Amino acid sequence: MAIGFISGGLLLLCTVSCALWDPKSSLQQSSKKIPVIVECRDHHLFISIDLPPSGNEPRFEAVDGGGSYPVTEYYGAQCGYTYSVQPLLGCVVLRASYFSCHTENQNDEVFTFKFRVIIEEQRGKESFVNVSKTCSIPPFHPREVTCEENYMEVSVESGLPCPNLGAVKSDFSAAFSLAQQSAMESLQVMLQVEGQQPEVMSTEDVANQGYFIMLTPGRIVFRSSFGQPHASFRMVNGVAVEVIHATVFFRQGWTVVIVDLVAACSMDQGSFDGNRLHWRTPAVMTPLLIGPSDMMSENISIGIDGQVINEQVAKDRVYAVTVNQETIDISIPFAAEGGFRKSFLMDNVYNELYTVQLTYEQVFVDHSGVRTRQNVVRQMATPPIAHPPFSVNQTTPEERVLTVFLGNIPFDVELVSVTLNGQELSVLTAVQMGYLITRIPQENNTFAYILQVPFDSAVVKKLYIADGLFQYILEINWTLNIMPQGEAYYHLSSVMALFRDILPPVFDSMCADHGISFQRHHREYDYLWDFAIGRYTLNEQLASERGYIMNNNSNTLILDVPLSTIGYIYEEINLQNFYASFEVLTRNAKTKSIEQSSAQRCLFQTTELMVCSTEGVLTVVSDITQAVPSIDPARTTLLDTSCRPSEFDDPKSSVFFWA
Ligand SMILES: *[C@@H]1O[C@H](CO)[C@@H](O)[C@H](O)[C@H]1NC(C)=O
Ligand SMILES: *[C@@H]1O[C@H](CO)[C@@H](O)[C@H](O)[C@H]1NC(C)=O
Ligand SMILES: *[C@@H]1O[C@H](CO)[C@@H](O)[C@H](O)[C@H]1NC(C)=O
Ligand SMILES: *[C@@H]1O[C@H](CO)[C@@H](O)[C@H](O)[C@H]1NC(C)=O
Ligand SMILES: *[C@@H]1O[C@H](CO)[C@@H](O)[C@H](O)[C@H]1NC(C)=O
Ligand SMILES: *[C@@H]1O[C@H](CO)[C@@H](O)[C@H](O)[C@H]1NC(C)=O
Repeated sequence: MAIGFISGGLLLLCTVSCALWDPKSSLQQSSKKIPVIVECRDHHLFISIDLPPSGNEPRFEAVDGGGSYPVTEYYGAQCGYTYSVQPLLGCVVLRASYFSCHTENQNDEVFTFKFRVIIEEQRGKESFVNVSKTCSIPPFHPREVTCEENYMEVSVESGLPCPNLGAVKSDFSAAFSLAQQSAMESLQVMLQVEGQQPEVMSTEDVANQGYFIMLTPGRIVFRSSFGQPHASFRMVNGVAVEVIHATVFFRQGWTVVIVDLVAACSMDQGSFDGNRLHWRTPAVMTPLLIGPSDMMSENISIGIDGQVINEQVAKDRVYAVTVNQETIDISIPFAAEGGFRKSFLMDNVYNELYTVQLTYEQVFVDHSGVRTRQNVVRQMATPPIAHPPFSVNQTTPEERVLTVFLGNIPFDVELVSVTLNGQELSVLTAVQMGYLITRIPQENNTFAYILQVPFDSAVVKKLYIADGLFQYILEINWTLNIMPQGEAYYHLSSVMALFRDILPPVFDSMCADHGISFQRHHREYDYLWDFAIGRYTLNEQLASERGYIMNNNSNTLILDVPLSTIGYIYEEINLQNFYASFEVLTRNAKTKSIEQSSAQRCLFQTTELMVCSTEGVLTVVSDITQAVPSIDPARTTLLDTSCRPSEFDDPKSSVFFWA
């Protein structure tokens, strides 16, 4: 029979086997299926329950033959239950020590746990899940020291030989005589703080102060939450350690048994060096020493979530144990298997953290070969690590494409849409519209996106600066989603490119005495174009056929087009003057489409002229003053005598319009 004392009175444990409970069915469900994981681990029972959709955290009650006991923060620490909400994992976890208050203990080998889990669903409705589990575990070491997140626990075999009083520490022997009489009664506990008068208390007093003492079939268990009045802090090899020391006296037949119960835990909070999480503990936990004996570290194992893992697995995951003279440093690399990587948003910035529940086991052996195993559970987490995206302008104006690189995109982030100058487009739509979006893996396990938008796209803002110089502007709002939860954040980039656009060439033109003159300096991209007069390509041959005077040197093309050559258009002809215009077309050299026109219209004096107009009118201006004999212009006609001058400038000339 094991006896335990907890605050508020004496509990009889493990005496009643609850008939109501069927230990084979480890889980009885409430109306809905609630995912529960229950596992026997090296030093505790592990229960994990998903957070219900309501978000209300499930509550636990430990159940034994005597009733059910809510696992509160205070009660949990005293009774060996560690309850934690893991919002990142979306679950609550309960770890129960094998020596927890309401656990049935068969010979320190088989342990049966029963819990009632209360789940508050929407609108305050509660449902219950019964969880029970029986664990058979390998034998404990003579002394087990457990450093949980909310308590320290030490258990020792109570059948250990009595310590040699002559060899023990002085404070111990001093305490011995003081405690001797009280030990006669029942179990007496002496709590010792270094340098202070020891205090002897009944187990009930001890329980009232929040400590826990229990006798199991073969062991004595002492438990204390951290930071209790009788605990002390000290630096051991540069590591902060919390120590609590209880001495228990009890009668066994006609002898008084004295058992020392010391728990010591490294209080190292862990650190993150940018790559690895570290946790330190002294190489030898010297506060666990009783008397002037010594202790050697025999074996170190590490693991996660309450289970040690074998060396090869630890190696594969690049976990490291560095044993120095003074300290042992355990380190786990960021994102290593076994931990949990979580990304979330903080002020529109992607953040990530990595958390791992380190399990640490170290076996010490003292000079008489008695082993102590220390078991540590430490939740370690990196601070949030921000991964802001950055953009780089990769525009190459020659390609006439605005190119933007968006880097530092974590593996679990996807680009869902881009807003280009205010127009929101899903990635798919953008791609369909001809904007290239590519996702490319980067060296350091991140990704990048490259967006390419041609200068001439409708979404690009184009501003004319001067002289063929354009500014192309693209404001981008990238919308990124953390997958799978779909949390969205965004990043703004802006690119612009100044570019002297290749405009189709235009001629400078001017009116000359007897024609029109066109002129143009050659430019770099002239090969993209050719010139035409109407439908005919302008070249040496056309020029000579039609009487254009073309002068094409290495710098300049000059085209003089004399009046009356083919290609002119005449308007507003009268006896004094008329307008003549001539046009040179600039065509795309490949497609022959007309892209530019250089036209000039000039006023000329009317002398002699014969012009066909497109309306089928032939206009003739003729100077007849030289005719012999002299002619009266009013009486001139064409061969068709009905065609008479419409206007004449007596006595010089006549103009005929003939249709
Ligand atoms: C859980 O166990 C209790 C007995 O402790 C029983 O009364 C109750 O019906 C059980 N609940 C479910 C959902 O099985
Ligand atoms: C150290 O402990 C681990 C886990 O408890 C065990 O597998 C291993 O055999 C031990 N090694 C030694 C040398 O005792
Ligand atoms: C990846 O590399 C880029 C630059 O090369 C850097 O800006 C970014 O912070 C790195 N990301 C990570 C997760 O190391
Ligand atoms: C960018 O887009 C997000 C939505 O995806 C929006 O909330 C945000 O206001 C936009 N930012 C700007 C500057 O337009
Ligand atoms: C982007 O690159 C182009 C081409 O190299 C350059 O003209 C422009 O000034 C750059 N800067 C920005 C802010 O877009
Ligand atoms: C003028 O000369 C240049 C080379 O100097 C040539 O490329 C171009 O085709 C010529 N233009 C015409 C209309 O002949």
